[in-house]
Amino acid sequence: MIEEGRVSVNGRIAQLGEKADPARDEIRLDGELLAVEAPSVVLALNKPRGYLSAMSDDRGRKCASELLPMDAHPALFHVGRLDCDTSGLLLFTTDGELGHALAHPSHEVVKEYVARVRGRVRDDELRALREGIMLDDGMTAPAFAEVLDAGESSRVLIRIHEGRNRQVRRMMDAIGHPVRDLERTAIGSVRLEGLAEGAWRELSPEEVESLFLAEPLQ
Ligand code: URA
Repeated sequence: MIEEGRVSVNGRIAQLGEKADPARDEIRLDGELLAVEAPSVVLALNKPRGYLSAMSDDRGRKCASELLPMDAHPALFHVGRLDCDTSGLLLFTTDGELGHALAHPSHEVVKEYVARVRGRVRDDELRALREGIMLDDGMTAPAFAEVLDAGESSRVLIRIHEGRNRQVRRMMDAIGHPVRDLERTAIGSVRLEGLAEGAWRELSPEEVESLFLAEPLQ
């Protein structure tokens, strides 16, 4: 078809051997635009504090989208949210259905956080996190919780599979240890390690698949 001169790229007749990118170039066959569906992507971003989990903001605040390759993937959208003052792993996808499924409350993938909290967390307070805590929107499901280091402030590793608004902060408030810093370090088997602050990477198909496996809290 190219030899017959029937294919054009961005308005010019294509030549054999030329390269075109279906995601960016306008490719026509006999003048008809080819509707090429770009393959969907899932990206992991290490969101810095101070960025909204949003693609745009009418008040001009900094948005996570500013850190992403929006030119190559204009349909990217965030999967769930992190608070503006929480840093760490945030996923984005161009696949609306996948994004919707992953962000749905019934989706029980484990999310891991490291919280730096005020004061020394006692064993009975950890036990409360593990057993469930009464918040103003009901009991939390049992969480995995352990203290990584303790002093004037403590670092607590916590894994939950719910995604309520400001859940970790509210759980820590409820045991009397307000959060000073919060970072999400993993979602399912997708880990933050190796991703510099503000950097992103594409997930492998295996990682995407793992997001649908409910793993035990351990
Ligand atoms: N829990 C919080 O309190 N904040 C987040 O951003 C995520 C979980």
